[in-house]
Amino acid sequence: MYFLNLATTLLCASAAFAQSSTVIIDALKLALGDTNAFGLFLNLLEAIPPEDYAEFASLITGNLTFAMPQSAPNGTVSAVLGNPSTILPLLSYHLIRSPISNTSIANSPVHSIVPTALTDSSTVFLENNQSQSLVLTTESDGSIHVLNQPTDVILTPQDGFSILDVTYAWSSISELLVVPTTLSAALTSNNITTFANSAATAGIVNTLESLHGVTIFVPQDSAFSSVSSTLSHLNSSELASVLSGHVINGTFYSPQLTAGQTKANLAGQTLTTNGTTVSLAGGNTANILSSDVLLQNGVVHIIDSVLVLNSLKNSATGSLLARPWVVASFAISVGGYLFA
Ligand SMILES: *[C@@H]1O[C@H](CO)[C@@H](O)[C@H](O)[C@H]1NC(C)=O
Ligand SMILES: *[C@@H]1O[C@H](CO)[C@@H](O)[C@H](O)[C@H]1NC(C)=O
Ligand SMILES: *[C@@H]1O[C@H](CO)[C@@H](O)[C@H](O)[C@H]1NC(C)=O
Ligand SMILES: *[C@@H]1O[C@H](CO)[C@@H](O)[C@H](O)[C@H]1NC(C)=O
Ligand SMILES: *[C@@H]1O[C@H](CO)[C@@H](O)[C@H](O)[C@H]1NC(C)=O
Ligand SMILES: *[C@@H]1O[C@H](CO)[C@@H](O)[C@H](O)[C@H]1NC(C)=O
Ligand SMILES: *[C@@H]1O[C@H](CO)[C@@H](O)[C@H](O)[C@H]1NC(C)=O
Ligand SMILES: *[C@@H]1O[C@H](CO)[C@@H](O)[C@H](O)[C@H]1NC(C)=O
Repeated sequence: MYFLNLATTLLCASAAFAQSSTVIIDALKLALGDTNAFGLFLNLLEAIPPEDYAEFASLITGNLTFAMPQSAPNGTVSAVLGNPSTILPLLSYHLIRSPISNTSIANSPVHSIVPTALTDSSTVFLENNQSQSLVLTTESDGSIHVLNQPTDVILTPQDGFSILDVTYAWSSISELLVVPTTLSAALTSNNITTFANSAATAGIVNTLESLHGVTIFVPQDSAFSSVSSTLSHLNSSELASVLSGHVINGTFYSPQLTAGQTKANLAGQTLTTNGTTVSLAGGNTANILSSDVLLQNGVVHIIDSVLVLNSLKNSATGSLLARPWVVASFAISVGGYLFA
């Protein structure tokens, strides 16, 4: 274990003195300065604006694993340094409020959701002031990966270091982490356009992005082709209802979607999960293809089918004949855009 013996030096500091944020930051800088592995973190630490010192100091009291990035994509660090208010949120996303060891993280395909110190109110919009999380899994070769980041990030648990008689753990991570942002951004980075366009057409994007805590089962683009004739008969409020059927109020990560879990969706229907599937009561079942895509206000799970009530499928032809104007207006407002 590294013991960068600041503790000994600083042990005599009075309680009041030790609480001074400048002392804690200076002690941390000294400690981190002792090993090159902390260089990138140290660069960011040194750039924290003074008005954020006290908040940073309050975050690093006790029981933390520091995730120390070993590299960053070209231009990322200078962009962060050029926008000082983003430094503390980014750093706090690298403070894990959970002990991490080579054996503590679930084996793939199961995920471990670990909380971080990131609670910044301009960056995190989860329910009950819940902090933002990281999604980790252990691959069969024993390596731990941080999932749903722009690149494949590998996390390697190391030992500890000590500051002001508190011992912290640290892990190296292969790349600087990116803080989760909006649904729109997450869909774009996952190459999902049809759900994004449909949600825009139905006018529900603001609702989805403004809920504090949301779980969205997002069908991949190809899922829409088999229901295009059903959906093309719907007006925008009916479409909004179908899409809302994929949404749960509250953040439920994959470990909370195990067998037999039932939740009400925003359309007032029941969704049942079994770990690998999600079923709509009175409708169909979809396979979960990829889970735990993090958002600033919740989580997305990507599925292989659109969830549609059987009654809607059965009545599709009837409603087409009964309401030809709906088809016409829908075609005008949506055109080829929805099912392109
Ligand atoms: C640190 O966190 C772990 C797991 O969250 C907990 O079991 C342990 O009691 C905590 N230790 C302290 C000193 O708070
Ligand atoms: C990133 O910067 C390094 C050093 O400045 C350079 O060697 C490398 O080619 C750059 N990589 C990309 C992808 O631009
Ligand atoms: C969330 O944090 C704010 C500000 O710190 C506080 O006023 C509010 O009571 C908290 N809400 C919950 C549900 O904890
Ligand atoms: C975890 O495993 C990696 C890879 O085998 C190793 O380099 C590292 O030292 C281990 N960490 C701990 C704390 O044992
Ligand atoms: C999105 O598409 C791009 C370009 O085709 C590809 O490089 C990238 O891996 C895709 N991303 C995902 C998450 O599928
Ligand atoms: C959509 O169709 C439903 C009938 O299924 C109707 O009640 C509703 O008013 C329509 N909404 C719009 C915006 O046309
Ligand atoms: C979501 O749940 C929260 C907390 O229970 C509640 O305040 C809010 O009104 C709900 N929103 C919707 C759209 O159901
Ligand atoms: C979930 O349900 C699907 C379809 O009914 C089934 O194939 C799968 O084995 C189930 N998974 C679990 C973990 O029960």
